[in-house]
Amino acid sequence: MHKENIAQEINQLRQQLHQHNYRYYVLNQPVISDYDFDQMMHRLIELEHQNPDLFDPNSPSQRVGSDISQEFEQVIHKYPMLSLGNTYSEEDVTDFYNRVAKLLNEPFELVCELKYDGTAIGLTYENGRLIRAVTRGDGVRGDDVTANVKTIRSIPLQLEGDYPASFEIRGEIFLPRAGFEKMNEARREAGEPPFANPRNAAAGSLKTQNSKMVAQRPLDCFLYYLLGEELPAPYHHQNLETARSWGFKISPYIKHCQNLNEVFDFIHHWDKARNELPFEIDGIVFKVNNLDQQKRLGFTAKSPRWAISYKFKAEQGYTLLQSVSYQVGRTGAVTPVANLDPVQLAGTTVKRASLHNADIIKSLDLHQQDMVYVEKGGEIIPKIVGVDTDARTPDTQPVEFITHCPECGTELKRVEGEAAFYCPNSVTCPPQVKGRIEHFISRKAMNIDGLGSETIELLYKQNLINDVADLYSLKKTNLVQLERMGDKSAQNIITGIDASREVPFARVLFALGIRFVGETVAKKLASAFKNIEALKGATQEQLIDVDEIGEKIANSVIQYFTVPENLTLIDRLTGKGVQMAAAETEETTAGNTLNGQSFVISGSFSSFSRDELKSIIDKNGGKNVSGISSKTNYLVAGEKIGPAKLAKAEKLGIPVITEEEFIQMIEQSNE
Ligand code: IVH
Repeated sequence: MHKENIAQEINQLRQQLHQHNYRYYVLNQPVISDYDFDQMMHRLIELEHQNPDLFDPNSPSQRVGSDISQEFEQVIHKYPMLSLGNTYSEEDVTDFYNRVAKLLNEPFELVCELKYDGTAIGLTYENGRLIRAVTRGDGVRGDDVTANVKTIRSIPLQLEGDYPASFEIRGEIFLPRAGFEKMNEARREAGEPPFANPRNAAAGSLKTQNSKMVAQRPLDCFLYYLLGEELPAPYHHQNLETARSWGFKISPYIKHCQNLNEVFDFIHHWDKARNELPFEIDGIVFKVNNLDQQKRLGFTAKSPRWAISYKFKAEQGYTLLQSVSYQVGRTGAVTPVANLDPVQLAGTTVKRASLHNADIIKSLDLHQQDMVYVEKGGEIIPKIVGVDTDARTPDTQPVEFITHCPECGTELKRVEGEAAFYCPNSVTCPPQVKGRIEHFISRKAMNIDGLGSETIELLYKQNLINDVADLYSLKKTNLVQLERMGDKSAQNIITGIDASREVPFARVLFALGIRFVGETVAKKLASAFKNIEALKGATQEQLIDVDEIGEKIANSVIQYFTVPENLTLIDRLTGKGVQMAAAETEETTAGNTLNGQSFVISGSFSSFSRDELKSIIDKNGGKNVSGISSKTNYLVAGEKIGPAKLAKAEKLGIPVITEEEFIQMIEQSNE
């Protein structure tokens, strides 16, 4: 095929895919099947692959994201990204309305919108193409998350119609309820902790370093604010409607209000109807429609005087407490859970609520069979916020925290100064044993592929594993006899277990599940003590000497090595070939040369990749930070470093060093 024809086909495919994408994700009216869409996309990707010179960063193919991990550049907002004043009562809304009326002293119209519960984003378009997407950050500067945002299918990469040459549009990126449930389900299956609510999930997704992962999350976006020098109309709502015609997803739930009664009607309607929406909202936003009036009202230091948000009160449920049950976690901590008569709350049926700990039960003065109030305070797990003592029958007994472990019968203990009760039988208490194994194999620990909680449950029941060292004695024959276990899966597990012998010492230390020893602490311990023997012999003083390690962690480490079963376990793991010492390379280069100093790495380098430089900093006791602040010690500047970063470093008087200077710094002190 001729180059010209190829270019033409590519362009045509891009145009068509943009259109189908818009019909599917913005209008919800697809006209072709998913299969046909995929076929067209495959063809485009194939052609782009064969013709790299025709690459276009805004091609629909770019929505799949990339594996390249990104460091977010900080960008200064052209227009500061302010937040809105919050109100919580109708009186506050009345005050806002009267204030505006008084300041304007002429008729005005309010536009009422929903307050989408996600994370704010500012999108910059030039000549109809998305060029930058920036988070709110501190309002003055935010993170450039363009690569991640390009994966959101309802955000147009290329606009249609008569748009201004340059403008910014702001909106809220969120996860619809169904997508959120699906995503958490997948996380649970993968042994990853579920997100607490869709808002956290959306914000967390945007900050993910790998845009390919972001592409798999069903994020969506409503745009609610158009900014620029040449806007199409002198009214806020008209601008949004025009932006809709360029391809943006604008909420259909927008209403004009001429007086306070209409405003309250809108609030009352959505306070109830919000549960039926496919996404979460946490309030209503009111904006003066006329841009000239907006300008006259202006801004306070933090927010516009022409807009305000009204936050819904947390919805309460009222129901009967059936019983209290107790869950035992991996560390032995016992958490009380309230079992409730099912009650409808914020769109879901609630049957259980967290009671957190014994103190909470006491402070609620909770009795058996009490009628209780439940709330979902922005989190997915509801909590009991109060008890209706008037509805209590006189002879009911207070809820008493259990004295013995519900799983193994051992008497519970409470560590002084801590709220939680513990089951001290860490060695044979089943949820603790299984929990430790699950933690050991998890992704950030030994990362043993293919082995999930169900398999562990089966292996434990059959007495094939009782601790993490037993994993290394498993044979393929032990696995294939399990329910629903194929030959290939069994082999994968065995291969995964084998491979875990190469996992570096720091992660092994984390995998052991010593209380309070998370990933970072494990790294610090591994680099300070180098091997398990040295760590075992460390005194409290020596431990506290390590950066970021305090008395609580030090005591927990010492306590761990006093338990004979733990010592045997470590011996057995050592015998199975698990790394109990830092590798030579880790050891020799690791040091404290950089002594907690913080570095920003930016630009491209000739001798090392950015990741390599970061790991050198890490291993020499320095800190990697992504943004420059007055606390940064050095900016390591490579080629093509952004001028904004350089300017900021200069302004704050932070030394800017080259790659060579940085390497010299390390070498000199290692001599
Ligand atoms: S307008 C200057 N409209 O609520 C006006 N904000 O503090 C800027 N939000 O995090 C905001 N829905 O991201 C506006 N319909 C809506 C909104 C909305 C949600 C978020 C916004 C910000 C917070 C306001």
